[in-house]
Amino acid sequence: MKIKKILITGGAGYIGSILVSDLVQKGYFVTVIDNLKFEKNSLSHLLGFKNFKFIKADVRNKNILINELKGKDLIIPLAGLVGAPLCKKFPRMATEINYNNIKFILSKIKKSQKVIYPNTNSGYGVGKKNSYCDEKSTLNPISLYGKTKVQAEKIILNHKNSIVFRLATVFGYSYRMRTDLLVNFLVREAVLKNKLEIFEPHFRRNYIHVKDISNAFLFSIINFQKMKGNIYNLGLSNANLTKIELAKSIKKIIKNIKINIKRNKADPDKRDYFVSNKKIEKIGFRTKVSLNEGIKELYKVFKINNFNQNKNNY
Ligand SMILES: NC(=O)c1ccc[n+]([C@@H]2O[C@H](COP(=O)([O-])OP(=O)(O)OC[C@H]3O[C@@H](n4cnc5c(N)ncnc54)[C@H](O)[C@@H]3O)[C@@H](O)[C@H]2O)c1
Repeated sequence: MKIKKILITGGAGYIGSILVSDLVQKGYFVTVIDNLKFEKNSLSHLLGFKNFKFIKADVRNKNILINELKGKDLIIPLAGLVGAPLCKKFPRMATEINYNNIKFILSKIKKSQKVIYPNTNSGYGVGKKNSYCDEKSTLNPISLYGKTKVQAEKIILNHKNSIVFRLATVFGYSYRMRTDLLVNFLVREAVLKNKLEIFEPHFRRNYIHVKDISNAFLFSIINFQKMKGNIYNLGLSNANLTKIELAKSIKKIIKNIKINIKRNKADPDKRDYFVSNKKIEKIGFRTKVSLNEGIKELYKVFKINNFNQNKNNY
């Protein structure tokens, strides 16, 4: 059955606002449930479209959720407390939204309803220097954020009609801007302070532009039958970079900045891994936005608006 009607929870967020815009413009009927904790206007440009419906509500409101799950061909549960600091601050809510809510959705949908779920790849290779990770590598999350996401991934995969993405660190401009993500954070620092302070410079990570996340969701909607029941890493294969390599890539574009390496400071985020994205590439998915293009875009964005008011708080 062709996918037409889609429910997206958390659709007003960093990833959601780009993805929802693309889906609505492609003619899908999209319903979003979001409590608008961060950016109030990230979907306002869509309110005039007949194939878009917005519900300002908490996903933990079971009556609303049950009602909106009915008749949807596909559910994309993006709502979450995102990132380790936020989950540490609100542990109960993190479990309620990131795990219990997913469990509830799965208990209410029919076998025929499809699910696409975004996990983080942040648990790969933690504590293992320069490890090489593919989808068979186990996730070993340390933070509550990572743990709730991995628990949710496991139950999602029990629903046969599902696809899981394990996302690299996302970068790029979105209608709901996040300045805490590493590339976005460093480009903003470069613009505001003309310098980058890098600690643990040899920690390696994988990156991907937010537009390519949306492209991958669109690709998986079209190729759902071929892809279902599987996990796919999602990142730029030519952007498995150490932090110092990332800083140097930024300096190539914002030339007047200084890079200072802080030898005596530890990064609480122990990610250090090389991620293979071959599985999704093998079935034909190609990313479109390079890291350099993303840095150039972010440079222009932060010169106009430094997002000082942008607090990733709940
Ligand atoms: N951005 C990344 O690098 C990344 C990487 C891996 C996985 N993910 C996953 O992708 C999803 C979206 O992440 P994002 O970066 O867009 O984060 P985000 O914080 O920008 O978006 C989350 C959205 O969920 C909404 N929300 C939160 N709690 C809610 C609730 N109780 N009821 C209704 N709405 C609620 C927020 O208002 C927000 O619009 C999350 O599930 C996250 O774990 C993101």
